[in-house]
Amino acid sequence: MQCWQINEYGEPRDALKLADKAVPVPGEGELLLEVKVAALGLPDVLMCRNNYLFSPQLPFTPGQEVVGTVLATGENCTTSVGSRVMAVTAFYNGHGGLAEQAIAIDASAFAVPATMQDAEAAGFTIPYHTAYVGLVTRAKLNPDETVLVHGAAGGSGIAAVQLAHALGARVIACASSDEKLQLCKQSGADLLINHRKQTVRDAVMEYTNDIGVDIVYDPVGGETFTDSLHYVASEGRVLAVGLASGEWGQASTGLAVIKNCSVMGVYVGAYGPDHMSAAHAHLMALYGEGKIAPAVDQCIPFSDVARGLQRLADRQVRGKLVVQIA
Ligand SMILES: NC(=O)c1ccc[n+]([C@@H]2O[C@H](COP(=O)([O-])OP(=O)(O)OC[C@H]3O[C@@H](n4cnc5c(N)ncnc54)[C@H](OP(=O)(O)O)[C@@H]3O)[C@@H](O)[C@H]2O)c1
Repeated sequence: MQCWQINEYGEPRDALKLADKAVPVPGEGELLLEVKVAALGLPDVLMCRNNYLFSPQLPFTPGQEVVGTVLATGENCTTSVGSRVMAVTAFYNGHGGLAEQAIAIDASAFAVPATMQDAEAAGFTIPYHTAYVGLVTRAKLNPDETVLVHGAAGGSGIAAVQLAHALGARVIACASSDEKLQLCKQSGADLLINHRKQTVRDAVMEYTNDIGVDIVYDPVGGETFTDSLHYVASEGRVLAVGLASGEWGQASTGLAVIKNCSVMGVYVGAYGPDHMSAAHAHLMALYGEGKIAPAVDQCIPFSDVARGLQRLADRQVRGKLVVQIA
């Protein structure tokens, strides 16, 4: 079967090569999928650069999430052959979704409603489940709170904007261009901050009458995260989600003490099937009511994967970039 493979680390445009490899065999709790559409995410870029916590050994096929049809199942799976599912792949074993066939984790596979397009379903699971874990499970968001989202037009960020808005919060979106912020506005953001034109701290304090925000959702890390402790409110929560900037931020314990605020890690992969199923049911109900809807930047052909992932690395994507495979 055809796949994209990383044989040597580098930028996506150089590291990704088209290859032929044997169809992988699903192990216990795993599914073999015929991939219809795969979604790209920054972790795929970080895997190309060998800067990802769960990078597989070389050579490997990246691609963390897909929509596809189940061709075969390993032992102890609950999903049936023939089902159309959205799922997280076993990318960490080298069998990611940028391939004609991929291995998916049975516990992360959910039936796709007939009304949902493949392009929407492909990039649903990781961004919305992460937003759910961060905002609902960890931060216990109250409807009257204010949530600031960094990297708000990115794959993770836009899901958090939509979910926070759907749950009744006031949403502040931070992004690097007015075009990106336009998508955030369409997704329910109340205040838009272009961090290349405005100082985030000043804009937040002005909007909140010097109180600060209740929750910061941060997939960016670095200075962005570190600065967030200056404008989180008393008893607020700063959620460390990712390191799109290339590095984790540093939290000042002194500021956390003075503000009675919390710094929380958010890792969607740590939650088991029961939590995932309950979160998924809640998320699909919101999707059914039209309150959340995956923002697809573009659906690109399989042959364009290296160029597409480089666009993502270069911060030129709004929402999710997805790949038509079958
Ligand atoms: N904790 C979890 O369970 C979990 C789950 C999913 C993802 N993540 C992590 O979240 C992070 C974001 O992933 P994603 O797929 O949402 O990424 P994405 O779609 O590329 O969005 C990331 C956003 O970060 C901003 N950014 C700031 N500095 C950047 C840089 N140097 N390079 C690229 N983007 C930069 C960009 O926004 P502007 O251009 O507007 O500034 C970009 O839109 C990754 O580190 C990923 O591993 C964590």
